[in-house]
Amino acid sequence: MASTEIDAVPQKGLYGWISARFPLDSILRDHLTEYYAPKNFNFWYYFGALSIVVLAIQLITGIFLTMNYKPSAADAFASVEYIMRDVEWGWLIRYMHSTGASAFFIVVYLHMFRALMYGSYRAPRELLWILGMVIYLALMAEAFMGYLLPWGNMSFWGAQVIVNLFSTIPFVGDSLVEWIRGDYYISDITLNRFFALHVIALPLILVFLVIAHILALHEVGSNNPDGIEIKKVKDASGRPLDGIAFHPYYTVKDTFGLGVFLIIFCGIVFFAPSFGGLFLEPPNFDPANPMQTPPHIAPVWYFTPFYAMLRAVPSFAGTQVWGVIVMFSAIALLFFLPWLDKSPVKSIRYKGPITKFMLGVFAVSFVVLAVCGMKPPQGIYPLLSRIFTVTYFLFFLLMPWYSRIDSTKTVPSRVTYHDHEH
Ligand code: HEM
Repeated sequence: MASTEIDAVPQKGLYGWISARFPLDSILRDHLTEYYAPKNFNFWYYFGALSIVVLAIQLITGIFLTMNYKPSAADAFASVEYIMRDVEWGWLIRYMHSTGASAFFIVVYLHMFRALMYGSYRAPRELLWILGMVIYLALMAEAFMGYLLPWGNMSFWGAQVIVNLFSTIPFVGDSLVEWIRGDYYISDITLNRFFALHVIALPLILVFLVIAHILALHEVGSNNPDGIEIKKVKDASGRPLDGIAFHPYYTVKDTFGLGVFLIIFCGIVFFAPSFGGLFLEPPNFDPANPMQTPPHIAPVWYFTPFYAMLRAVPSFAGTQVWGVIVMFSAIALLFFLPWLDKSPVKSIRYKGPITKFMLGVFAVSFVVLAVCGMKPPQGIYPLLSRIFTVTYFLFFLLMPWYSRIDSTKTVPSRVTYHDHEH
């Protein structure tokens, strides 16, 4: 129902008072009680809401960490130790924030994989997808800068390696690196600017992008596991027949998902905050030391698939630039998915065996590359990195071909939904 019709109905009490002065009532209706989402959402549809929750956890814990953290090379490491040992509940706030960083990437990767499975990036959701990809880039920048702040030895050397990648850019590389660091090496100046970007610039950008992402989603409506546009079949009042009101139906479902998520999240925060060195890496328990390289420099797990691709490409004529190009292309290709996929159907449910196989190849490549990126480049790992870098790219580059020639199943006109009692 158009919101203007209901706006005419006077609301009582404080709610009515506010609604007469602020579009509260129409916002709640447009985005919750009268936002019709497909009734066949499954497990994979938890992760958008969970991403919002993790963003909130990071913002709130981040504010409290900032109250005791000192962004200077002389004090940063000790201030984190102080938070961990002396500040009341400081250890909890910090472990929530460090676990939250990894949790963010877990939920976002699952969220993105869902879009790959159900073709959620396809028309009319291209802009929603692109906004998602920009969020992903901003999230990577946010995590990278945050990692320098504790000023541990891996913070220092990780930043050193990654910032130096820009020096491979012809002509401007060296000046660019100096400009990013603000110094000739990763110093107090670098730490200070990364702090500014991490605590205010990027969180602001992230929040705006997430709002735009959700507005874009609500403009076109959600996709679903069948990849059917529910807006095509409406009842007399213009409501999609296969849609159910987001509130209360999905607020209840998402609350259940939140409960399960929080159990796992708390389990990690309280019992395994370093997660075997994956979430907090051992060299970061030592202060930054420019005179001592950690035995093996590796970024945190969520960057390792791309790091493995960087190392998979040998350096030619003394420059690593091709590895850098491969690494950035691996991310850039994701932006083009809406135009690479030529299949007549959206969801994997109705796609053929080649597409299913290729999606499997993509998922396996990503996980194997993540493992390779964590290991020192010795033994079997360089070979595995090369093989799976190639298969990762084949998923994208061959897509225009295999998505067109692959067989498809007939897509039903209505979403498939099985009542739990039958
Ligand atoms: C802070 C990070 C993010 C937040 C808070 C967020 C939030 C959401 C929410 C609440 C939804 C609706 C619920 C759902 O479908 O699960 C959604 C849908 C969607 N998001 Fe995100 N998102 C984030 C990052 C991303 C990224 C990185 C991508 C992809 C690159 C992405 C792509 C999509 C797509 C394609 C949909 C529509 C899915 C469908 O209807 O099938 N999002 N997002």
